[in-house]
Amino acid sequence: MSTVLIEIRRARPADALAVAETHDEAWRNAYQGIIPGAELEKLIARRGPDWWDSAIRKGSRIALLQFGDLVAGYANYGRNRARSLFYEGEIYELYLKPEFQGLGFGRRLFSAARKDLAQSGLKSLVIWALSDNEPAVEFYRALGGRAVARSSERFGGKVLDKVAFAWQA
Ligand SMILES: CC(C)(COP(=O)(O)OP(=O)(O)OC[C@H]1O[C@@H](n2cnc3c(N)ncnc32)[C@H](O)[C@@H]1OP(=O)(O)O)[C@@H](O)C(=O)NCCC(=O)NCCS
Repeated sequence: MSTVLIEIRRARPADALAVAETHDEAWRNAYQGIIPGAELEKLIARRGPDWWDSAIRKGSRIALLQFGDLVAGYANYGRNRARSLFYEGEIYELYLKPEFQGLGFGRRLFSAARKDLAQSGLKSLVIWALSDNEPAVEFYRALGGRAVARSSERFGGKVLDKVAFAWQA
């Protein structure tokens, strides 16, 4: 019998390639059929290992879910970027590789990110999701998020609605 260690930890520069691969796989899986193909390829190409290496070295807060030797998912988070919304923290991205979805890991990553934000004084938080990303919308609802704002974003020739979910302190 073997035991697999599952942990959530801060990303290190040596993780840049694994995070880039996780990002690539998770985004392709989540957004194919939602974000136009050429735009999706551009978004993914911009976030290669060098981008992640630089983000990690700059001190961006990136938490990894490590499953044995594998990076199964990541969350990055920090101060809320939208001044019009009165929430302190924001989870910018939370993504799991497809084979690790639906097993409770998303909830664990969310809780770890929320706790880390709260420990640095950012007690309320917001997360944006594309409205067409139904699994994500359902996930944030299941976690107790309240839809508090709507906006839209252009991806090439397509404008997509997005919704902000919030959690109070
Ligand atoms: C969205 C995502 C992070 C959720 O993580 P996950 O590990 O699959 O979700 P969990 O297993 O932790 O589920 C937590 C809760 O959400 C619910 N939930 C998750 N996905 C759901 C869905 N598609 N429909 C309904 N409920 C859902 C679960 O039932 C669970 O509820 P419970 O604890 O009350 O039983 C993950 O599936 C993912 O990475 N998806 C692709 C990327 C993405 O869309 N990221 C978000 C971008 S904004």
